[in-house]
Amino acid sequence: MKAVLGVGGGIAAYKAAELARRLQERGARVRVVMTEAATRFVTPLTFAALTGEKVITGLFDAGSAEATLSSAVEHIGVAQDNDLLVVAPATADLLAKFAHGLADDFLSTLYLAFTGPVVLAPAMNSNMWTHAAVRANLETLRRRGHCIIEPEEGLLACGTTGPGRLAEPERIADAAAEAMAGAGRRDLEGEVVLITAGPTREPLDPVRYISNRSSGRMGYALAEVAARRGARVLLVSGPVRLEPPREAEVIRVETAQEMHDAVLEHLSEATIILKAAAVADYHLSSVPQHKLKKTATRLSLELDPTVDILAELGQKKGDRLLIGFAAETENLLEEARRKLKSKKCDMVVANLVGHDGTGFEADDNEVVLVSATGEAVALDRAPKKEIAERIFDHALKLRLALHAARQA
Ligand code: CTP
Repeated sequence: MKAVLGVGGGIAAYKAAELARRLQERGARVRVVMTEAATRFVTPLTFAALTGEKVITGLFDAGSAEATLSSAVEHIGVAQDNDLLVVAPATADLLAKFAHGLADDFLSTLYLAFTGPVVLAPAMNSNMWTHAAVRANLETLRRRGHCIIEPEEGLLACGTTGPGRLAEPERIADAAAEAMAGAGRRDLEGEVVLITAGPTREPLDPVRYISNRSSGRMGYALAEVAARRGARVLLVSGPVRLEPPREAEVIRVETAQEMHDAVLEHLSEATIILKAAAVADYHLSSVPQHKLKKTATRLSLELDPTVDILAELGQKKGDRLLIGFAAETENLLEEARRKLKSKKCDMVVANLVGHDGTGFEADDNEVVLVSATGEAVALDRAPKKEIAERIFDHALKLRLALHAARQA
């Protein structure tokens, strides 16, 4: 593993020296990039001695007559040559630069040019840590899929006590090793993963529709992870405000019927199907051609059930792995088991909705995976990308177990 360790200008910069060691112990070749401010806290020589590598401190060697083209594009070379970017301490300034794409020094420029996994370990004063601006930047970075190692509570350099102290180097190094292990895995190579995501919209007239609060984040996280692990990804997406992963083939739909048609059209190509979409259960079967006028004192809508895509897939799936989703407000396990059976799925990913910070519109999720083998595995609350990783881990294991059971 080739890692870049970015060191920000905070008092915790001294702990980055120990982190460099911990990363080396986990088999990493560590290249250190320091911001100008970081060099005020620790000398580049410390890191050069620890890593045996030249330490980068600026975009151009200040005052050097050798400021040639190669030094001008060095950040691209370093970005391409490394597998992992760890930043510790990630100061409020660095988080803001990364979140907004500012690139005015080596580290922030490298960050933009880097395409691999990013681990950020922030450290700062408690008031800074809880400031709305910092929270918003963290949210952006988390949503981008970066691993954030939350700071610990304790006595801070400024004399106050609270959250903001850089996590222990051991913890950061573990997270970095895990991010690397995950990033290198290509265990979905050869698979064609068909994913549905987001809500559907069922029109009421030419300008109105019924829909639901699904943001599509779980489905898009699955698509991103599947593509990264080597699968060909077919993403059938309802209307969402998300950027799909570059490698995914995206088929955009609006209604449940359109989603049904797109899924069925691609079924024969798929080896794994994940139905993360929140499909509307009812629709207006005959949509008026013109806008409904506000003439009646009371308006009743007569709705008909939509086609149940998952249930139809359960009938037609053959030996494909079929994974359904269940968003419930109560009786989670019973409902998941009922859907697993009635829709003939191999696994149901069930989550409670209507709780703070998980489920619909949230970045995190907390789910139970209920499998056709009878197994139920609860996954702790984690970012949706992390949950997506675990879903694929379990799906691959489940397929082997189902195969073995069929052979027996
Ligand atoms: N689903 C589907 N087609 C539908 C409705 C749901 O394919 N018309 C899929 C969803 O994509 C999800 C699973 O079914 O994978 C569970 O959806 P949910 O709405 O929770 O289940 P329902 O069958 O609608 O059950 P209930 O309304 O009783 O909760």
